[in-house]
Amino acid sequence: MNILFAASEAVPLAKTGGLADVAGALPKALNRRGIDARVVLPKYEEIPEALLESFEQVAHFNVYFGWRKQYCGLLKGSLDGVVYYLIDNEFYFKRRGLYGYGDDAERFVFFCFAVMEAVRYMDFHPSVVHCHDWQTGLIPFLLKTRYAYDPAWAYAKSVFTIHNLKYQGLFGIDLLKELLGTGDDMFTSDRLEFHGAASCMKGGLVFADKLTTVSGTYAEEIQTDYFGEGLDSLLRYRSGDLIGIVNGIDDELFDPMNDPALHSPYRDSLSRKRKNKVELQRELGLPQSETVPLIGIVSRLVEQKGFDLIAATFEELLQLEDAEYAILGAGEERYEHFFKEMATRYPDKVALRLGYDDRLARLIYAGSDLFAMPSKFEPCGLSQLLALRYRSVPIVRETGGLKDTIQAYDEYTGEGNGFSFANYNAHDYMYTVRRALSLYRNEEAWKQIVRNGSKEDYSWNRSARAYISVYSQLAAHRKEKEP
Ligand code: ADP
Ligand code: GLC
Repeated sequence: MNILFAASEAVPLAKTGGLADVAGALPKALNRRGIDARVVLPKYEEIPEALLESFEQVAHFNVYFGWRKQYCGLLKGSLDGVVYYLIDNEFYFKRRGLYGYGDDAERFVFFCFAVMEAVRYMDFHPSVVHCHDWQTGLIPFLLKTRYAYDPAWAYAKSVFTIHNLKYQGLFGIDLLKELLGTGDDMFTSDRLEFHGAASCMKGGLVFADKLTTVSGTYAEEIQTDYFGEGLDSLLRYRSGDLIGIVNGIDDELFDPMNDPALHSPYRDSLSRKRKNKVELQRELGLPQSETVPLIGIVSRLVEQKGFDLIAATFEELLQLEDAEYAILGAGEERYEHFFKEMATRYPDKVALRLGYDDRLARLIYAGSDLFAMPSKFEPCGLSQLLALRYRSVPIVRETGGLKDTIQAYDEYTGEGNGFSFANYNAHDYMYTVRRALSLYRNEEAWKQIVRNGSKEDYSWNRSARAYISVYSQLAAHRKEKEP
């Protein structure tokens, strides 16, 4: 079976969040199971040159969309056994960063059209095109409309994965109409229209043959008004085609036994893990102590991640409890400002680094005892899985993938791999942190919690099989139709 992943980011080429981890690791896991999974993404300026050494240009062609005629180069290369294709257009992608430009609609509509055209030059006929989030949402739409009878895509099916329903790619209808070269009929509420705008996300939700999202709980949540971001009725309508598959992590890329960023490799030894804590404290300028509990945060600093709860209780917790914080993230000004102030006022307890830093993220997973992630909503979350992999105990709110991967520790049965609370409430969060810290001081209980977290398999083993079953259902359907 041939699966073409179309995504806007993938490790190791370009990353802003968990989508890149998934689009990098899942194809690798699929290939190991006999699937030919390849990945296509934009050739961004920030892709490190060294990674492109093995790439060569395999084609160039023009992409016609709206009134435009845009050059497109197609590069092909292989990284860690996975074949990657890169869509090369300097006007759209030779810029700093990945997203956030005024012409993002045009950039990603171009990308979708370019993928549709690039298949002609790939020497690879996709059985399924697997699209991720709004940036690639118009591919299922194009497959069912403009390219419905195109031999390059004959019998191909599409899967659309929702990584985060909040980001929908909403643009003006006139703009999308012009870019897609379609009439008004495509902008009705059962197609691309959404509250007076045009939704790229709906391109995937309405037109893909199968929908997936990244945890079972989130698959249920998004069919409700509270989590549905205005799309819950559409998702209920398509519930027969929607399935939740929890993400895994790349356990080779994230392995505390074999992580060049770490000072002291370890797997289950808490004393060796604590050596990494001391190194982290030294690097961040915190007082060095193996025993003081250290709480890590590695995150986009956005409302989704529960920073309102953290901010509301942060000072009180600092005063009540003897604990240190290592915080790495970037995002909304109000949270950046808040943590800057805390780090200035409590330099012996709070260390903050603003920005994106893969090496420091690894040092924090390894050097922290606890990992705070009290999200308001969380489709899956990879950080709590990385924390478990590095034997840092997650404190989470019971939502989405956090609910599916973290079980609250129960003192009576000795079961559970973390700490959790149900309601989005600052005091419930504070109570949970305090309970976690009191158990940290109970050495036997602590060892048990960490051991529990080390037992589960959070790699892609299970979930890769679940995706193969989704693809197989589509491929079986396709065989019935094929002459
Ligand atoms: P999301 O995709 O919503 O941001 P996830 O938990 O799924 O959340 O994935 C986040 C990924 O990005 C993890 O691999 C995490 O380690 C990484 N990450 C987040 N913020 C940073 C940062 N500031 N520096 C380095 N890595 C980060
Ligand atoms: C999104 C979600 C996150 C998920 C990631 C990968 O960024 O916010 O919960 O883990 O995608 O699927």
